[in-house]
Amino acid sequence: MCGIVGYIGHRQAADVILDGLKRLEYRGYDSAGMVVSPQGANLNLVKRAGKLGVLAEAVKTTPLKGTLGLGHTRWATHGKPTDINAHPHLSEDGRLAVIHNGIIENYLPLKKQLLAKGHVFASDTDTEVLVHLIEEHYGGDLVAAVRAALVEVSGAYALVVFHADYELIVAARATSPMVIGIGKNENFVASDVPALLPYTRKVVFLHDGDMALISRDEITVTDFVGQVLEREVSNIDWDAEAAEKSGYPHYMLKEIYEQASVLQQTFGGRFAANGSDVALDLTLNPALIDRVVITAAGTASYAGMVGEYLIEKLARLPVEVEVASEFRYREPVLNERTLCVVVSQSGETIDTLEALREAKRQGAKTLAILNVKGSSISREVDDVLYIHAGPEIGVASTKAYMAMLAAFELLAIWLGRHRGTLSDERAAEIIRALRHTPVLIEQALESREQIAQIAEAFKGYNDYLFLGRGINFPTALEGALKLKEISYIHAEAYATGEMKHGPIALIDDDMPVVTIATKSSLYEKTVSNIQEVKARDGIVIALINEADEEIKNHIDYAISVPETDELVSPLVNVVALQLLAYETAERLGLDVDQPRNLAKSVTVE
Ligand code: G6P
Repeated sequence: MCGIVGYIGHRQAADVILDGLKRLEYRGYDSAGMVVSPQGANLNLVKRAGKLGVLAEAVKTTPLKGTLGLGHTRWATHGKPTDINAHPHLSEDGRLAVIHNGIIENYLPLKKQLLAKGHVFASDTDTEVLVHLIEEHYGGDLVAAVRAALVEVSGAYALVVFHADYELIVAARATSPMVIGIGKNENFVASDVPALLPYTRKVVFLHDGDMALISRDEITVTDFVGQVLEREVSNIDWDAEAAEKSGYPHYMLKEIYEQASVLQQTFGGRFAANGSDVALDLTLNPALIDRVVITAAGTASYAGMVGEYLIEKLARLPVEVEVASEFRYREPVLNERTLCVVVSQSGETIDTLEALREAKRQGAKTLAILNVKGSSISREVDDVLYIHAGPEIGVASTKAYMAMLAAFELLAIWLGRHRGTLSDERAAEIIRALRHTPVLIEQALESREQIAQIAEAFKGYNDYLFLGRGINFPTALEGALKLKEISYIHAEAYATGEMKHGPIALIDDDMPVVTIATKSSLYEKTVSNIQEVKARDGIVIALINEADEEIKNHIDYAISVPETDELVSPLVNVVALQLLAYETAERLGLDVDQPRNLAKSVTVE
C-alpha cells in the first residue's frame, strides 16, 4: 500500500527514485512525488496527482539534482489524491521532508495541538502531522526529533525522513513493511524489494519497532529509543528481469504466461523420488492436529478454498476457510490442535497478519503459504511454505494464485500421507497429474484467440454470472473477481447447484453465464444446470474439455482447456478465466496492471 523509495549514494537520486517507483507503482498510483537534496541548499520537491507518468514528465522540465532523495507513489487514505496531498511533505521552512505509508491513528488530536502552537498545515493528510511534530521537536538533532515524535504517534506506518542539514535518511517502521538495500558507497530504502532489484540483492528487512539510520556507507538499526539492534542481511534470489515486462504489453499478461514455469519453481525438489510422496520442510507434526482453519484475503482466500477441498479429500481433516478481515474479529474458537494456515502473496496484508496473531494468541499451530521472503508474516509464523512465484507486479494476482494452488496440492498430499489417509496409488496419480500441469497450462494458453472473440462479443455487457462446483467453485469466484478487478464489469459467482436457489431469477439474454463444465464427478449435474440456463434464454459460455463434443450442443460459446485429474483441474481452468478478464479489460481500453481504487498489498485496515 503506497510505495516508498529512498536513495543516498553517488548516483543522481532522482533517476534511482523514478526507476524504483516504476517498479512499485503497483502499490499505489493516484499521485506521486519526490524530493532531492542538493547539498547545502533547500530541498527540491516535485509532486503531482495522477499516475507516475505525470511526475516523470514534471521531472523532465524541472530536473532535480542531488545524490540524496526520497520518492513516493500513493494510494490515498486521508485526503484526496491531489498535488498538495501527494507525498513527500515538507516542513514550513522547506528543510525537512517526510514520506509515510500507513495511517497515523491519533492525527486529529495531534493536529489540534500543533495548530494551537501555530503550525500551518497545507494538506489534508495524516502524514503532515508527522512533519510538524518532528519540526516541533527539532533542536538540531534530527534523529532525536524523530524519536521524540514517534513516542507521540500511534498507528501503523513506515516512515522515511531527511533534513537539508544532514546526509542521512532516517527510516522507522511500525507494521508497514520496509526494506533497506545495501550497496557500495550507496544505500537504498524501499517499501518493497522490486524497487531494489537492479541495484542490489543484499537487503535488511526492518522489523516492527525498528528505526534505521542510513548514510552512504553505513546502516545502523536501532529500536525507537536508540538501542542498537542486530539485523540479518538477506540475499534476494529474484532476478531483475522477473520484474520487467519483457516485451509483453502488461505485467498481468506476462505473469499469466509465466505460470507454467512458476509451477516448476513451486514444485521444485518437493516431489519425493518414489513418485508417491512430497517432501516439505515443515516442523509441524500432523499427528498433533485435528482441524485446519485457512484464512486470507482476496485471491489468496480463493486459493484457500481450493485448499479446503484438497485437504478434506486427501487428508480427511475438517477444514474451514474464512476471509481474514472477518476471522480476526469474530473470536474464532481455536486450540493447540488446530492448524491455522494463512495465505498471502505479499506476506504483509494487515488483515491476514492480524488473523495469524489471533491464531497464535489462542495457541494454534500456524503455517503460512507465502511468496515474499522476509515479509511480516514470515517472521511471525511457525512454518512457511514458500510458493516461489517470483515478483508479481500486476495488481490482479495470477501467477501467485497458481502457485498457491500448487502449494495446497503439496500440503494436502503431505498431510494425507502422514495421516495415512492417502494411498500410494492415489498419491502417485495426483503427483503425475501435477508434474504434467505445466504442459497443460501451455495448452490452455492456446485458447487465447477463442477467449478474445468471446471478450469482444461481450465487452459491452454490464453483468456476468460465473458458475462452478466442487473444487472449481473457487475457480468461478476467482474468475469473477478477476473480471471485476480489471474490467469493472459486475460479476457474481455462485456454486452451480445453488443457481436455482436465487440467481436463476437474473437469467436473461443480457447476462452471460460462464460455467465451468470440465470433466468432474459432478459433470452430469453441471450439464443439467446449463440446460436450466438455456431454457430461460440465458447465454452460456462454458469452459469445457477439448474432447467434449457432446456438450457443444447445449452451450453458446466454448472455451477449451485440456483435461486433467479433477483435483488438479483448478490449476488448468483458472488460466482461461484470467485470460477472459484480461482480454475484456484490454478491449475496454482499461489499465490492466493498475486497476482503479485497488492496491496490491493492503497494509491498512
Ligand atoms: C489486495 C489485492 C488482491 C490480493 C489481496 C491479498 O486486496 O488487491 O489482489 O488478493 O490483497 O493479498 P496478499 O498479498 O495477502 O495475497
